Amino acid sequence: YSKFTARQVRGLHRSGCTCRSRGHRDTADNNPDTPFEFTAENLKRIDAIISMYPVGHKQAATIPVLDLAQRQHGWLPISAMNKVAEVLEVAPMRVYEVATFYTMFLRQPVGKYFIQICTTTPCMLCNSDSILEALKTKLGNQTGSPFFEIEVECLGACVNAPMVQINDNYYEDLTAEDMDHIIDELKAGRVPPPGPRNGRFSCEPAGGLTSLTEPPPGPGVGVRADL
Ligand code: FES
Repeated sequence: YSKFTARQVRGLHRSGCTCRSRGHRDTADNNPDTPFEFTAENLKRIDAIISMYPVGHKQAATIPVLDLAQRQHGWLPISAMNKVAEVLEVAPMRVYEVATFYTMFLRQPVGKYFIQICTTTPCMLCNSDSILEALKTKLGNQTGSPFFEIEVECLGACVNAPMVQINDNYYEDLTAEDMDHIIDELKAGRVPPPGPRNGRFSCEPAGGLTSLTEPPPGPGVGVRADL
């Protein structure tokens, strides 16, 4: 890729990440009075989550409880973060610190499809720039688009690089053509199957197994009789 192409591609990152780069400013639909209450079902889930941590360490449940709030509301208005702080009995700033650090937490509404494109070193070396460029070409800057894309750091699937996360699904071993196809499917109202796109199973070696190629012999087989 030429530098010119890379600079064009990076424009996607700048436009997509505004929710992370700015501090909070009250707006009509995102202020401390924005209605947010956990459902009775989620309050029970929160009790179960908190019970997994030692007494006096409710703060450890910040990430799962924020995730619950986001799944209930679709994104995290500041009132939802305040509610999380209230149920965990911590200062709101402790929750803001977490919500502003992780790209998984959305502090503004996003479209129906939230696309996170990994461009950290292993994905970059496997040409994640071509995936970025394919997305930019395919989606452009459509107002009201159901797609919202941001560039993120490693999503923990480096062995299947390059990859993107769309909502809860990982799409891996991607080419630009795969990315095109995935977007076409989503536009048509279908959710393409997640996982590797190059035919391999999970993260097994792309060229076939290199070890454990035979069925295990079973207990005792191959053990010396005099032992
Ligand atoms: S570098 Fe892309 S998933 Fe780890």
